Amino acid sequence: MKRFTIGQIELESPTIMAPLAGVTNLPFRLMVKEMGAGLVVSEMVSANGMIYESDKTYRLMESRPEEKPLSVQLFGSDPANMAEAARRVEATGAEMIDINCGCSVKKVLKTGSGSALMDKPALAEEIFKAVRKAISIPLTVKMRSGWDASGDGAMLLARIAQDAGVDAVAVHPRTATQAFRGHADWSIIKRVKSALTIPVIGNGDILTPEDALRMLDTTGCDAVMIGRAAIGDPALFKRINALLSGDIVKPRLVDHFAMMERYFTDSLDYFTDEFIACKTMRSRLGWFVKGLPGCSAFRKEAITLSTRVEGLALIHAYKEKLCEGEMNEKVMASGRFADF
Ligand SMILES: Cc1cc2nc3c(=O)[nH]c(=O)nc-3n(C[C@H](O)[C@H](O)[C@H](O)COP(=O)(O)O)c2cc1C
Repeated sequence: MKRFTIGQIELESPTIMAPLAGVTNLPFRLMVKEMGAGLVVSEMVSANGMIYESDKTYRLMESRPEEKPLSVQLFGSDPANMAEAARRVEATGAEMIDINCGCSVKKVLKTGSGSALMDKPALAEEIFKAVRKAISIPLTVKMRSGWDASGDGAMLLARIAQDAGVDAVAVHPRTATQAFRGHADWSIIKRVKSALTIPVIGNGDILTPEDALRMLDTTGCDAVMIGRAAIGDPALFKRINALLSGDIVKPRLVDHFAMMERYFTDSLDYFTDEFIACKTMRSRLGWFVKGLPGCSAFRKEAITLSTRVEGLALIHAYKEKLCEGEMNEKVMASGRFADF
């Protein structure tokens, strides 16, 4: 399989788990790493939160050796604060820092951070240079296509990043106002790749191993980043890695459910408060059963989940149902699983 390097760090696979606020916490990252992701990225971390030493902010960076290397994503709009926050992130032992120039949620845009920086290239440049100077670990920048669909915004920001000493850029080619509507315009990834000498990571709308291969082939990007499709299907990384080596692998239903159960129990341990953990896991479990027969009934029960015992019982009962009679035939007919 093609090896991929960011700065001095060589990754075992050119596949990256995208930063997802509210999702890519420690238990989730450990799971996708085990499934073959070459790099995992934290949820976005506020530079101001780091300056004020908020416990909640530091919790987002809690890490374990098994998930290494870990990239921590920072958002902020003040160059001095971003540099200081980056210094503190490096001191926690993170192997890489990513600067968020892609988030388009109002709360972040209002602070001049995230994709607001794509509208202020001079400020973005100051931030890149200040952070670069502050740390010795590799630095990456994640961006959208810009504030219009032309892709010129990404071209400009990517060049600025490269000139400022950034080690790689990730491009999610939707505009800052597009949220998740429409399609990611992969031709913009190709344009950015052809203009840069540093590695370019392509992101947006990869749902299957075949999509990942197609993005690598058609854009020439050096690595792929996967977000939504991996939330309920961490083994997607295993299947992409297999396809990159010319193999097709299919999961077994029992393995999928074992992973779901482990994610549920690890998350409960991580959050410590059983009710809060269960509330968070209600939608997460829903992602795991997406597309399976009877999944809406499962989801209906999952949204009332409030204890560990209830959660485990729900997962077991649904797995049993899927192994029987008509349900069993439907699952096998979908072609998604090798066997039970
Ligand atoms: C729930 C959710 C949370 C996200 N949080 C972040 C974030 O913290 N930082 C960031 O740069 N992008 C964030 N994104 C965007 C993703 O990293 C990614 O760019 C986007 O989902 C496109 O990739 P996909 O089509 O593979 O999902 C988030 C997306 C989702 C769905």
